[in-house]
Amino acid sequence: MADPASRAPEYVRSIAPYVPGKPIEELAREYGLAENSIVKLASNENPRGPSPKVRQAIANAVASVTRYPDGNGFALKVALAERYRVAQEQIVLGNGSNDVLELASQALLRPGDHAVYAEHAFAVYPLATQARGATGIVVPARALAHDLPAMSKAITPRTRIVFVANPNNPTGTWAASAEVEGFLADVPQDVVVLLDEAYDEYLEPAQRSRSASWIAEHPNLIVSRTFSKAYGLAGLRVGFGLMDAALADLLNRVRQPFNVNSVAQAAALAALADEDYVAESAAINRSGLSHLAQALDAMQVGYVPSHGNFLLIHVGAAAAVYEALLRQGVIVRPVANYGLPEHLRVTVGLPEENARFLSALKTALGR
Ligand SMILES: Cc1ncc(COP(=O)(O)O)c(C=O)c1O
Repeated sequence: MADPASRAPEYVRSIAPYVPGKPIEELAREYGLAENSIVKLASNENPRGPSPKVRQAIANAVASVTRYPDGNGFALKVALAERYRVAQEQIVLGNGSNDVLELASQALLRPGDHAVYAEHAFAVYPLATQARGATGIVVPARALAHDLPAMSKAITPRTRIVFVANPNNPTGTWAASAEVEGFLADVPQDVVVLLDEAYDEYLEPAQRSRSASWIAEHPNLIVSRTFSKAYGLAGLRVGFGLMDAALADLLNRVRQPFNVNSVAQAAALAALADEDYVAESAAINRSGLSHLAQALDAMQVGYVPSHGNFLLIHVGAAAAVYEALLRQGVIVRPVANYGLPEHLRVTVGLPEENARFLSALKTALGR
């Protein structure tokens, strides 16, 4: 007799599951290492975690976990609306920004539709596309970066969404606002552009995206942002999308009523207010990035200049180097599933974590 799983659509059964960074506990178990000796630089988290004010807000919020959260996220939306100069009706809150990508795909894609994204782009775009039975159109990268003119040319009458990660993970490549604006002007207004800016807070202040101000002119634009990266709240799962009110209304129809929990909402609200901490985290990241880059230069290891909180490094036999790092208690991220079998992605850590990584890499490469 056929099992129920075999009755699921072929496009769901053939999804290759997302592979997250290896958890510290798992490495400790497998290699007999002490958990506190392990350095995890595999998931682009903020190594400082949330600010003291945010930790306090989280502790306070625990008192009300008996109740369901505010399904509309009123307080957080008020703060976001003020920060980004949009109306509350233009905000969709997500269980991480990943949720916003899923909501857009769920609302817009059906079997036979096309979603356009770049080669080496964030892994969730193909997953979200395939889960709806839609077809991913992969546009070859140019020097590992998104080729935006080629992406707009790849749009056909069957295209419903174009995903753009800026900066992109895992390459760390970035397109300046002027280039993105040029791209938006080329995209037909009935095709949604999902501009994923998960790492925007790590950009130099002058490079930060002005995307929220483009929505009025481009009602087909969805900007996604997250509290998982520079704000240090990856474990709480909270992100948001900014878009035209009509699109927000559409995404809210497929959103779970209570998709963002109450502790996450309180934490995000406090994090948004603590601007100095985020700026400090970005500055620490920039200095960590340049330290890593200098050390890699000295070791003659290639890397892609990064605009995020991570670095894509060229190590050759990446699977073996990954293993050699694991044996030394350092977890980084293999990226063969991104079509980059000779690279590894390392998250910028605290200075002592970066030092541990560099010394382990030296040993792994025999330099
Ligand atoms: C480019 C990009 N977008 C979105 C996300 C999703 O992050 P979250 O769901 O934690 O907001 C990530 C996480 O790694 C990312 O790298």
